[in-house]
Amino acid sequence: MAVDKLDDNKNPAHSGDPINGEEPSRRDFIHLLAGATAAVGAAGVVWPMISQMNPDASVLALSSVEVDLADIPVGAAIKVIWQKKPVFIRRRTEAEISEAENTRLADVQDTDARNENLDGAQAEDVNRRFKAEWMIVVGVCTHLGCIPLGTDDGDTRGDFNGWFCPCHGSHYDISGRIRKGPAPENLLVPPYEFLTDTRIKIG
Ligand code: FES
Repeated sequence: MAVDKLDDNKNPAHSGDPINGEEPSRRDFIHLLAGATAAVGAAGVVWPMISQMNPDASVLALSSVEVDLADIPVGAAIKVIWQKKPVFIRRRTEAEISEAENTRLADVQDTDARNENLDGAQAEDVNRRFKAEWMIVVGVCTHLGCIPLGTDDGDTRGDFNGWFCPCHGSHYDISGRIRKGPAPENLLVPPYEFLTDTRIKIG
């Protein structure tokens, strides 16, 4: 199965606009959401969870998503949409896992794990994921809310091989930790769980 990709030209980060900025970037983000939904829907990897018990199904439709990870190649990443935000899912190589695990706390700018599943933990790589192979983070820069580059083929991944926010130059590492630039916090690890070895539920 082909890995889902979004159109770079519709990524607000490419225009340098914050996600909640002026009208053009809002329009771009709507395009992004529509593109992401269509892309993952067509590929059959995301199923919105809708409760029939709740009268407002449209709200619950965004409250959690299930993602099938099985067809994501090692070294590749995808974006999915969860609660109107992009979530990056990267299947890390052995070298990338080693790089992440060998980074010392003294070398990261934010020592909080920022992991919704692990309150109060420090930012070692082991506290940022459930399985070493899978790094899952909310794709919203913690500076002013742009969508960092680094998920699509050909994207620059910044100085630390993870994600790069071109809006003001924030560099995140392969664990999604801020390493350089104005962003104050690591990329957030959303609440998620593994339903099987290769299937997760976010939210
Ligand atoms: S919004 Fe990402 S560096 Fe400013």
